[in-house]
Amino acid sequence: MKITVNTKQRSYPILMEHGILKRAAEVCGDIGQPFLISDDGVPGQWRDILQAQFPDATMHVIPQGEASKSFPVFQEVLEDMLAHHVSRNDTVIALGGGVVGDLSGFAAACYMRGIRYINIPTTSLSQIDSSIGGKTAIDLAGVKNSIGAFWQPAMVLIDTDTLSTLPERHLSNGLAEAVKAGVILDRELFELFERDDWKDHLDEIIERSLLVKKRVVEEDERETGLRRLLNYGHTFGHAYESCYDLQTYLHGECVAMGMMTMAEDAELRDRLEKVLRKLNLPLSCSADPAEVVSRIRNDKKADHAEVTVIVADRIGHSHQEKWTMAQIERKAGL
Ligand SMILES: NC(=O)c1ccc[n+]([C@@H]2O[C@H](COP(=O)([O-])OP(=O)(O)OC[C@H]3O[C@@H](n4cnc5c(N)ncnc54)[C@H](O)[C@@H]3O)[C@@H](O)[C@H]2O)c1
Ligand SMILES: [Zn+2]
Repeated sequence: MKITVNTKQRSYPILMEHGILKRAAEVCGDIGQPFLISDDGVPGQWRDILQAQFPDATMHVIPQGEASKSFPVFQEVLEDMLAHHVSRNDTVIALGGGVVGDLSGFAAACYMRGIRYINIPTTSLSQIDSSIGGKTAIDLAGVKNSIGAFWQPAMVLIDTDTLSTLPERHLSNGLAEAVKAGVILDRELFELFERDDWKDHLDEIIERSLLVKKRVVEEDERETGLRRLLNYGHTFGHAYESCYDLQTYLHGECVAMGMMTMAEDAELRDRLEKVLRKLNLPLSCSADPAEVVSRIRNDKKADHAEVTVIVADRIGHSHQEKWTMAQIERKAGL
């Protein structure tokens, strides 16, 4: 399956195929010297498959986890690229989840004012969501994604075989973003979760989610309008995420709870709850409402008195609204 994403910065293919990792070198074609980046939580079997195809390439392996989206690790990666004489004609290849993708993409965006970047996402979250759209970033002073760039990849290779080693909790975590894509823009995608066992439809779920993201990103590369719909469940989701340490809840789990918080319509609530339960995703948490509100106030999307939130009117339809902090407080249960 091939999806072409057309953005102002560049057009690039997303190639999704079982076993495509084994053909990465052939598919990538002439990319100069590749510089491979992965993390130590990506099973060795996947890293070995990539390395075997580029035997002369350096593989820079960072520690797994969000803490690697930091200036020290970013600096180490760039220094290693310099030490290996990576030039403007060369290519960064990321193999891993959203952490590896975000960090590698940002390194590629900055190195020599920007070099080619190929992403091979290996988690459901990165295959469904973070690998396309061009958002790259690291965290600073505890503020997630505060330093980054829009840097579109040259190519994205999705090998769903790599998900076979992903722990179930992480699998569900990424699928929360697919449920979100269904709620905001694709009723049939949502109904797929309702009707069937999602495990039988993983490829279709990923493909449909990518098509939603492609559509939104193409229309609104820099998130000034339509792309904001992707933030459904994220206003409260990000707040929950920051109320807890990163181990308690994963991003997609917080998005699941954030979607439930925002779901008002009784039918939508009921359907959403059933689907999230099927995925073993949490529906609510016991974060202190006052703290949740204060996190939202501090969030970069809270434009002083107003917060842009996404409201789903029914499955497959959503729009943005400007809410006052008083509305946010009511929603949070204050
Ligand atoms: N750029 C974007 O648009 C965007 C969108 C959403 C999220 N993100 C970012 O993505 C990050 C989260 O991504 P994630 O959920 O992929 O987490 P992650 O990258 O931390 O990966 C989760 C864990 O799974 C391991 N892993 C990776 N592939 C594996 C595999 N095939 N089998 C077994 N284990 C594997 C990793 O080593 C890690 O320990 C966050 O930093 C978030 O900010 C970015
Ligand atoms: Zn998200």
